[in-house]
Amino acid sequence: MSEIFVLSETRGRVGLLTLNRPKALNALNDQLMDQLGAGLLAFDANDDIGCIVITGSEKAFAAGADIGAMKDWSYMDVYKTEYITRNWETIRRIRKPVIAAVAGYALGGGCELAMMCDFILAADTAKFGQPEIKIGVIPGSGGTQRLPRAVGKSKAMEMVLTGRMMDAVEAERAGLVSRIVAADRLLEDAIETATVIAGMSLPAVMMAKESVNRAYESSLSEGVLFERRLFHSCFAMADQKEGMAAFVEKRKPTFKHM
Ligand code: HXC
Repeated sequence: MSEIFVLSETRGRVGLLTLNRPKALNALNDQLMDQLGAGLLAFDANDDIGCIVITGSEKAFAAGADIGAMKDWSYMDVYKTEYITRNWETIRRIRKPVIAAVAGYALGGGCELAMMCDFILAADTAKFGQPEIKIGVIPGSGGTQRLPRAVGKSKAMEMVLTGRMMDAVEAERAGLVSRIVAADRLLEDAIETATVIAGMSLPAVMMAKESVNRAYESSLSEGVLFERRLFHSCFAMADQKEGMAAFVEKRKPTFKHM
């Protein structure tokens, strides 16, 4: 039997995935990433789930790709099989919101994984970095692309070239994380936030996610047009009728997620 590296559970309409390789600070190997991908796809397909949280341990969200597993790979190994990188992109196919709840180290592939989530909630103990340069490589799962978009070129370049870490305060100031919470409240806070999102109309939430992501993939005028088309399509949803009627009638809406 293969080891369980990702624990999957539900909290109401929230799907929680916990990276569980504590002895290696959640170093990301192929099995772990396969299990994470499978867990994400299962929650995405589950009508009872409205938002997903990925978290790690107190000491590490994830300290990067598994260096021990990678050290003897050849170019042909990685090019032909796409080890590691192959199963990293599953998260980009997930249409429901995914929150990264980060405590401790989020380094290398761990930082890249957090940045692939829709937003990052950081414990006051969180430390972010792209230290690949120190082991003779460069980031391989979007770090050189997503970090500059999140924190600007100067800070991203310095971090990628020196491998230095950024603490939670610097990460919040730079816009990498949405908020800092006390470490002992991180999971509770992440679940609370995810529960708020999961209580909204699911199709509206999915459209909002899709539209914000467009900001990174298109010009402003294209993005605004995309948003307008989605906004118009909201008026085909039962949840739009219910949400607006509930406001006018001064009551809470009951969304049917359709
Ligand atoms: C494999 C790792 C690991 C990693 C930690 N461990 N990070 N194993 N791959 N990325 C293991 C250690 O070997 C050790 O195992 C145990 O976890 C505890 O780590 P320590 O180093 O003893 O802990 P500490 O002194 O507290 O230092 C923590 C740390 C350090 C600063 C996070 O572990 C560290 O620098 N880790 C490597 C970070 C890194 O370079 N990440 C980028 C990887 S490359 P034992 O068995 O000795 O107890 C990458 C490319 C992504 O991510 C490409 C994506 C496709």
